[in-house]
Amino acid sequence: MTSHNRISVIGAGAWGTALALSLAQRHPITLWVFEEEGAARMQSSRVNQAFLPGFELPANITVTHDLAAAAANADVLLCVVPSQFMRSTMRALTPHLRPDHVLVSATKGIEDETCLRMSEVMEQVAGHQLPLAVLSGPSFAKEVAQHLPTVITVASRDADLAQRIQRLFASPSLRLYTNDDVIGVELGGSIKNVIALAAGVVNGIGLGSNTSAALITRGISEMTRLAVACGGRPQTLAGLSGVGDLVLTCTGSLSRNRTVGTELGRGRKLPDILADLHGQVAEGVRSTTAALGLAQRHSVEMPITEQMNAILHHGKPPADAIRELMTRPGKDE
Ligand SMILES: NC(=O)c1ccc[n+]([C@@H]2O[C@H](COP(=O)([O-])OP(=O)(O)OC[C@H]3O[C@@H](n4cnc5c(N)ncnc54)[C@H](O)[C@@H]3O)[C@@H](O)[C@H]2O)c1
Repeated sequence: MTSHNRISVIGAGAWGTALALSLAQRHPITLWVFEEEGAARMQSSRVNQAFLPGFELPANITVTHDLAAAAANADVLLCVVPSQFMRSTMRALTPHLRPDHVLVSATKGIEDETCLRMSEVMEQVAGHQLPLAVLSGPSFAKEVAQHLPTVITVASRDADLAQRIQRLFASPSLRLYTNDDVIGVELGGSIKNVIALAAGVVNGIGLGSNTSAALITRGISEMTRLAVACGGRPQTLAGLSGVGDLVLTCTGSLSRNRTVGTELGRGRKLPDILADLHGQVAEGVRSTTAALGLAQRHSVEMPITEQMNAILHHGKPPADAIRELMTRPGKDE
């Protein structure tokens, strides 16, 4: 009998693999891998050595490089490719979409140049509205793979769909809250990476806890201003995909974005830092420019994002950026 809840995970980086491991506790999973060789290696070794080493894939995870098969064998397509590859992956996936397919994005990021959110990219490529939900919230891949209790948000403009995904994905180690504010959830999950880079810079320069706390708090204010200007709700940014994810990424040692920021703060150059990541993404690097583009479009002030962009892309010394933030004209809280 055909089940209506077959899940294919599209993208086998750290996060796609961790979600597959979590979901495989209750469902058979197909895991699509971009690299053909990587898929073959993972299928025989049963480990994702490149992106999430140390976790054995159970027998009910089928690894494939065949996107058509991954689509054909699923009712729910959980897309977890880095944001820079969402458009090309959706182009490849669209010919295989059925009207009954549900799409879920777990990617955090804003597209370069277009400044589109991931769900907007997905619908633009498909050419029509999709049954679509987005996942976001405080979740390091490694901890989800370890089945440590994790709580995230599933957002959809369709409340029934959000509840369906909530039931389908839940386990004793993964709890989901529904939300209908897709804009707020997607922007919260994306812009927190920009603030995490800045938190890393503060750490790398060797500044104190006062500075970190100020950055997180003013970061939330900046994230909320942009999300609201784009049509999101302020309460969403106070939730899991706002404050929750920001606190995780700004304080947790597993954050790649914070690590990149720390290295920048220590004076290393961005290309050298990125080369050391060996193909792993730090979404905040791209999202900084895109967030700034969105801010300009909506006339929103984002001083931290502006300074982060100058450090990343215009070689501004981090200490100068901090001095400028501290000596801006006085403001009302
Ligand atoms: N790592 C985490 O803890 C975590 C947690 C929550 C959300 N996320 C988000 O999940 C998304 C994916 O990040 P990740 O950490 O799993 O990635 P990753 O850095 O671990 O892996 C990079 C992935 O990109 C894939 N890739 C490379 N070239 C490609 C191409 N041309 N087309 C399609 N895919 C290609 C690789 O196969 C690999 O799966 C990001 O938006 C990230 O912000 C990550």
